[in-house]
Amino acid sequence: MDISRDGIKQAVIEAGSSDEEFFHFPVNENGLYLQQDPDEYADFVHYMATQARPSKFSLDIGVASGGQTKFLRDYYPIEKTIVLDIGEHEAFRHWARIKPSVKTKFVLELIMDSHSKEARKALLPYQGQIDFTFIDGDHSYKGLMQDIELAKEIVKKGCIFVLHDTGAVPDCVRVFNELQKDPDFELSANFDSRFGISVWKYLAINGPKTGWRKKLSKLRG
Ligand SMILES: C[S@@+](CC[C@H](N)C(=O)[O-])C[C@H]1O[C@@H](n2cnc3c(N)ncnc32)[C@H](O)[C@@H]1O
Repeated sequence: MDISRDGIKQAVIEAGSSDEEFFHFPVNENGLYLQQDPDEYADFVHYMATQARPSKFSLDIGVASGGQTKFLRDYYPIEKTIVLDIGEHEAFRHWARIKPSVKTKFVLELIMDSHSKEARKALLPYQGQIDFTFIDGDHSYKGLMQDIELAKEIVKKGCIFVLHDTGAVPDCVRVFNELQKDPDFELSANFDSRFGISVWKYLAINGPKTGWRKKLSKLRG
């Protein structure tokens, strides 16, 4: 396997997009239906493969075809994974085919709204275990903030947060700008040649706005 940045870009193109007109590389009928820019995504995957510590447990919010979930794990080791997606994207029909080829152990597959009480309830037992999260679900300001808050409740201190579209979708850009001022987050890397893939370290200075940590800090005054 060629793990050079250009080798990864070539593999992205061969894996295929979900829409040639929009993503500027062809669809491969039996491919991954990626919703990524080849240069930007290759830069990101190369960074993860060469600079980031491997992950023991990931939470992926917004997987669509699951092609990105698979592609990343071919280069960046992730032992266990939870996926959470509402299952309404046109590309979601490819997930059942792609899932068996993903190099990880799937611990939980939640096909539901990430903002539902059920999703939070299903995730809470994994509190303190997640060290990597890729968030690419609801792209509204409120929706993305809710996903970040949800993840904050269950991740470990030091968790790597990856947010997609933080350079292109205005609501996601707003989130990006706010996180830069948030003591809970430190920007580790930013790949922003088209959509924006930002990589953050979760410092857990203030912690989540809801949940047991918050309740505990209130009790302590
Ligand atoms: C842009 S696509 C994800 C693309 C994928 N990460 C990739 O790189 O190929 C966004 C996904 O988020 C899902 N989604 C949107 N809102 C959601 C929500 N509230 N809860 C769960 N999933 C959601 C959509 O169904 C879709 O599959």
